[in-house]
Amino acid sequence: MRKEERLRVLETLKNNLDAGTTADAGQVLCAPVEEFVGLERLALEQEVLFKQTPLLLGLSSDLPDVHSYLATNEVGVPILMTRDESGAFRAFLNVCQHRGAQVVPEGRGVARRFSCPFHAWTYHNTGDLIAVTRQGQFGDVDCDELGLRELPACEVAGLLWVKPTPGDPLDPETLLGPLHDEMEHWGFRAHDFREEQVLISDINWKLAVDTFGENYHFNVLHQNTLANDIIGNLQTHDVFDQHYRMVFASKGGFNHVISEGIPTQDWPYRMITLNVYYMFPNVILLVDPAGVDLLRMYPDDDRPGRSKTHHRYYPNPEIAAEITESRFQGFNEIIVNEDYAVAVSIQRNIGSGAQRYHLFGRNEPALHHYHNVIRGALNLPPLLTFEAVNS
Ligand code: FES
Ligand SMILES: [Fe+2]
Repeated sequence: MRKEERLRVLETLKNNLDAGTTADAGQVLCAPVEEFVGLERLALEQEVLFKQTPLLLGLSSDLPDVHSYLATNEVGVPILMTRDESGAFRAFLNVCQHRGAQVVPEGRGVARRFSCPFHAWTYHNTGDLIAVTRQGQFGDVDCDELGLRELPACEVAGLLWVKPTPGDPLDPETLLGPLHDEMEHWGFRAHDFREEQVLISDINWKLAVDTFGENYHFNVLHQNTLANDIIGNLQTHDVFDQHYRMVFASKGGFNHVISEGIPTQDWPYRMITLNVYYMFPNVILLVDPAGVDLLRMYPDDDRPGRSKTHHRYYPNPEIAAEITESRFQGFNEIIVNEDYAVAVSIQRNIGSGAQRYHLFGRNEPALHHYHNVIRGALNLPPLLTFEAVNS
């Protein structure tokens, strides 16, 4: 983030703090509870959002060296991401061209070539098929035609994007749009991968994203945890095409710089803020003093009320190890025991008939944006205002 933008964000937070206000969307919107149930809606989302849309699957540091690889099935099709000899990032369907076995088991490591576990056909990390076992007996097949099926993939500003369906190359300009410089500025490549976990929960995947979409709830739901560190109901809100950014203020950090009378331009931006990015369609990317958290939310294959959150943590290299050591586990406990526990009750209550709509307040602007960009991508009309619904 550029210095002028950092300053603008800090001053916005300070002014709102002084005035007891926060970001204001200007209206209350209504999300029909059908957003979170229904097989038809689920099928549409899976096709449009999780097959035809480029997805943010990792940071550049997930493939730290030449010949690093990362195999993941999180999207629903097996994907193999590699960094080849030249350092180029590539992605493939992790499916053997002989009889369709998954070639590389899920996980990460370093390898130039991969051997299929079924009959040991062997592929280079550029996707080329380099050996067919006992080819003389197998038959005359053209290896040039039988490489791993390549997926559109792009590494931009330290972020790894893959479209899970073969097709045209990705355009790096449009993936991040106006967020490009800001992402570059965070220096994600220097944040090494530390650990990861999958949280499976009985909530629709959009409810999982919603729990990260405001801090109106901090002083209530997180009164004994996150609210110790973050000022509740105080946020900025900025939209970058389909993505958004919210910034929250650290309680201790803001208290310190304000009580010491430090001029805003000298405030240590990263050390006193929590930056929450929503990256269309399914990612929450958090940047704070302790590091970077990359949370990818995915629907279950056939249950709209179930989802998985794949969470990876990359500590800030400039922070002492003892500060980052227990953070990942502690943070996931908060997500599961507080946010997702409430979200499970919400998902359960959708079928009760008590509500036709969830209400997104003026002070929850990111929820407005997020639900409307998802609806836009699915060719659904934008959310109605509270007035329109009740007129
Ligand atoms: S399925 Fe891969 S070698 Fe046979
Ligand atoms: Fe929360």
